[in-house]
Amino acid sequence: MFSNTKRVYNFSPGPATLPTSVLEEVQKDFLNYQASGMSVIEMSHRSKVFLKIYEDAIASLRSLMSIPDRFDILFMTGGASTQFALAPLNLSAPGRQVSYINTGSWSKKAIEQAKLQGLSVNILASSEDKNFSYIPKDFNLAEDQDYLHITSNNTIFGTQYKKWPSPVLESEAKTKCPLVIDMSSDFLSRPILDWNNIALLYAGVQKNAGPAGLTIAIIAREYYDREKENTPSLFRYSTYAKNQSMYNTPPSFQIYMFLLVLKWIAEQGGLVKMAQHNEKKSELIF
Ligand SMILES: Cc1ncc(COP(=O)(O)O)c(C=O)c1O
Repeated sequence: MFSNTKRVYNFSPGPATLPTSVLEEVQKDFLNYQASGMSVIEMSHRSKVFLKIYEDAIASLRSLMSIPDRFDILFMTGGASTQFALAPLNLSAPGRQVSYINTGSWSKKAIEQAKLQGLSVNILASSEDKNFSYIPKDFNLAEDQDYLHITSNNTIFGTQYKKWPSPVLESEAKTKCPLVIDMSSDFLSRPILDWNNIALLYAGVQKNAGPAGLTIAIIAREYYDREKENTPSLFRYSTYAKNQSMYNTPPSFQIYMFLLVLKWIAEQGGLVKMAQHNEKKSELIF
């Protein structure tokens, strides 16, 4: 296969290279998926065959990323850029306070979307003074922040959080501030070591894990009670959770390819192995 086509090294930040074995499997099963007599792109998302793909993808992701049971895994669309708007819409409200760390152009876009919604947005720290060449470490939170948003890897500037910040709110209870994490550009490239303070983690899959069109949101269920009554159904995380991400037609072919990539990652030894492999690659390049 691919005998006429020379595959190239793709250094693009995304969409990025997918494993050849995955592409070959897709090609092999394209016209007739597992003797169903049809392609996955033609299949009802409510069919038994597709439901199995959906369930396997959820189970594989939960296992690979060690996602605790208190989180729902949602298959959405609209890319991380839509999450920039949905996170504040669902987790905060006009007049309330949220915090952001500004580590590059994607953080800035996330900040813009929160500001548009009339939230009081604190830029807790920024690395703009040195052209986003570092991850700021020193900051304090005020009382009563609904969440702290970070970008785990800054695609254009190449800086990455090695450990999530865990700031304590300056309220009487001194609780940890819930984190909202944009993991678009290092999703599935390393294990998540600490789920404790995460409220929401999101990523488009097109950088590492499938074709563009599928966005993953992983949300702790306790945050659904922040949703507002006037939020349209399809803009609420709980709608996806209640309907197995099928309130409307999901991006089924992308979910199928995502499952194949998840299986491939598991066969390679999982996310610890992925992280080691990625470290070696980055040493070669940088
Ligand atoms: C860190 C980060 N966040 C968000 C985005 C935007 O993602 P999308 O194109 O899926 O909306 C990108 C895209 O490159 C990104 O690298």
